[in-house]
Amino acid sequence: NKATMIVDKDFTIGEVDKRIYGSFIEHLGRAVYGGIYEADHPTADEQGFRSDVIELVKGLDVPIVRYPGGNFVSGYNWEDGVGPVDQRPRKLELAWRTIEPNWIGYNEFMDWCKKVGTDAMMAVNLGTRGIDEARNLLEYSNHKSGSYWSDLRVSHGYKDPHNVKTWCLGNEMDGPWQIGHKTAYEYGRLANEAGKAMRWVDPTIELVACGSSNIAMPTFPEWEATVLDLTYNTVDYISIHQYYGNRDNDSQNFLALSMGMDSYIDTVIATCDYIQAKKRGKKKINLSFDEWNVWYHSNDQDSKIEPWTIAPPQLEDIYNHEDALLVGCMLISMLKRADRVKMACIAQLVNVIAPIMTENGGAAWKQTIYYPYMHASIFGRGTVLVPLVKSPKHDTKEFTDVPYLESVAVHNEEKNEVTVFAVNRHLSESLSFEIDLRSFGAFRIIEHIVLENEDLKASNTAANPDRVKPHTTGNATLTDNGKIEAQLAKASWNVIRIK
Ligand code: AHR
Repeated sequence: NKATMIVDKDFTIGEVDKRIYGSFIEHLGRAVYGGIYEADHPTADEQGFRSDVIELVKGLDVPIVRYPGGNFVSGYNWEDGVGPVDQRPRKLELAWRTIEPNWIGYNEFMDWCKKVGTDAMMAVNLGTRGIDEARNLLEYSNHKSGSYWSDLRVSHGYKDPHNVKTWCLGNEMDGPWQIGHKTAYEYGRLANEAGKAMRWVDPTIELVACGSSNIAMPTFPEWEATVLDLTYNTVDYISIHQYYGNRDNDSQNFLALSMGMDSYIDTVIATCDYIQAKKRGKKKINLSFDEWNVWYHSNDQDSKIEPWTIAPPQLEDIYNHEDALLVGCMLISMLKRADRVKMACIAQLVNVIAPIMTENGGAAWKQTIYYPYMHASIFGRGTVLVPLVKSPKHDTKEFTDVPYLESVAVHNEEKNEVTVFAVNRHLSESLSFEIDLRSFGAFRIIEHIVLENEDLKASNTAANPDRVKPHTTGNATLTDNGKIEAQLAKASWNVIRIK
């Protein structure tokens, strides 16, 4: 079992936009209440934010966080979440059938973003609302002062505008589950008019139109074509979402699912380019993969949750080792299209299908998927190099010719470092991996990080938070002819750092 990869510093795919390492906080389950915020937690700061969670988020160096939804945003009145907290309404939240107390809203979230050192990606409600709420929220957020909404912000104690740059025009509007679900035509018209008005308030913003909720939607990819036809002049990005699961316990097939992500990305790029050609346009529409992850472990448990409580434990997937491997493959999939995937959000960040878990009043810990996400975010900045990969292949239930090796390299010119990310999909055998960095001259190996585990189903819990964690004793070595050789353990995620 031998795989090879050749990379050359002159053969590049594109610059990594650091925002592909974004994440997502929705008013859903315990993401906000019990996740980022818990006023009586022993680590709570003066605003009630959990400092233990802030530290774990900082460890990921998350550049952008999408907020406040998700399905939640399609029924949300942002005005309910600003001003004196004791005067904020408690409302029925229809997307997840809970009670929303509005203890946290727009301004508090902006404060939290500052504390963790991230930017916000805001979504406006185009489900139950429209042009007016979108432009008012933007005026409240970004206009300096001297108008009704900006002065209201000032009166709420926020003198300086928040200057949020990235705005999503609704969420998953193609999905029948969405409050205010629309046809592509209805949505495209509304998104275009809301986007135009928003740009008149603040011409410096970037706008993201809703693409498909997943590749299996019956309206995919006609949805993208119709929406972009109607919004081409107004928007900069089209969003796509995808979650995967291993419901049949077929791990070989599960680890191949990122190949579906590859073709999803390629089809959406093709659709963007078709519309650009049709419009005789200069502008390239890029992709915001603003929800992606593994999501299935919690499905049964969620169907039993009583409605109308505050912050029930919804979507609390406990991730295992194989989930971390697929997350690694999905990150590689996006890096391989770094020329067009400019933003992405692992969904979500805390408790809700998340790399970070907490107990109310108790511990916070790293799930298995924390590690590949952290490695990519920290080491995967720079220019992605074209990966010329040769690998033995296998077939799975849904995919043919699945390479055992999934790999990509990122060149950080500033630091003069190359990082190779590699997954060995083989479940029972190691893979011998040779990397040819022909144009890089002399270099040394800084470290070879490995995430491996005998048990594909091993996971981290509050009682045993370190059951799955990486080590740095991978065996990558320099060969006499100036290449790198490594044995990639069966079912492993690898980060080989070179300088
Ligand atoms: O991330 C969980 C949910 O998944 C989001 O609210 C929605 O956009 C998607 O269906």
